[in-house]
Amino acid sequence: MQKIGNIGVLTSGGDAPGMNAAIRAVVRAAIYHQCRIFGIRCGYKGLIEDQIEEMFSPSVSNVIQTGGTLLKSARCPEFRQKEGRHKAWENLKKHGIEGLVAIGGDGTFRGAQELSQEYGMPVIGIPATIDNDISGTEYTIGYDTALNTIVEAVDKIRDTASAHNRLFFIEVMGRDAGFLTLRGGIASGAEAVMIPELQNDEEKLRNFLESSYKKAKTSSIVLVAEGDEVGGALRLAEKVQKEYPEYDVRVTILGHIQRGGSPSAFDRVSASRMGVSAVEALLRGEKNVMVGLINGQIALTPLLKSVKEKKQLNRQLLELLDILSI
Ligand code: F6P
Repeated sequence: MQKIGNIGVLTSGGDAPGMNAAIRAVVRAAIYHQCRIFGIRCGYKGLIEDQIEEMFSPSVSNVIQTGGTLLKSARCPEFRQKEGRHKAWENLKKHGIEGLVAIGGDGTFRGAQELSQEYGMPVIGIPATIDNDISGTEYTIGYDTALNTIVEAVDKIRDTASAHNRLFFIEVMGRDAGFLTLRGGIASGAEAVMIPELQNDEEKLRNFLESSYKKAKTSSIVLVAEGDEVGGALRLAEKVQKEYPEYDVRVTILGHIQRGGSPSAFDRVSASRMGVSAVEALLRGEKNVMVGLINGQIALTPLLKSVKEKKQLNRQLLELLDILSI
């Protein structure tokens, strides 16, 4: 193991359940390996504004079960400019920080990569976003919890759908990726999904609506990814209601409830593994890599690759949905 004096940790971008478990693991692993650990509040914004404070083991007591992020998060346009990154670098130097752990999504990693390229600061990324849209890891922190939230919500909506013979369009988050929608659709028994990765999903939906009407299917649930080209659940529902007046259509937008809440056991364990591995990677002299989970094992991927490569959907899951929604 290499001697790294001080390590910094921040969370950036959209919060995700399990971020606190990851911060806890980073803090405790750093102290275990005799490093000092500094928490940077409000992501890159706090780095620029010098919102940096030393953390100790009790700083992360009683947080593993909490959602959100105790370090707070922000989206920071100033960090995209060279001057912003220079201020950030000055503050890192001021606190003697020799390695940084950045917890977040692709925007977080892009910023980390630039900082490291310009100033030689070793950075380790921990993927945390409910969207699961990061290459180099099968699961991002927060994805499993968000999926469980979606399933719980859809189960409740299904009660009304079934009692009133309605067709529900439920909008799911995921920016421009359909991971949450596809897996959420399978887990909640949705009749169809609309996702950006599918070219012919509108046509498939029409086929489904026509055949299910013929079969006198009484209620149906369609999950719509916010990033699908149909323009969201509201737009799609209006269109469908006009074309198929025989259906009684309703819409629910799940929104930010998908980002909150106590992390699942899976997210807590993944966050703990990734947090400890991130610190150990820094101490081994690794730089500019993301810690991920591949086949259940910790794996390192260059940060640049993880942001540049588009993560592919599991096609088998798509086929599964077609088989199960006949
Ligand atoms: O990246 C996480 C996410 O929740 C996306 O699914 C969503 O598109 C976006 O963030 C919403 O961002 P904000 O909370 O900044 O509106």
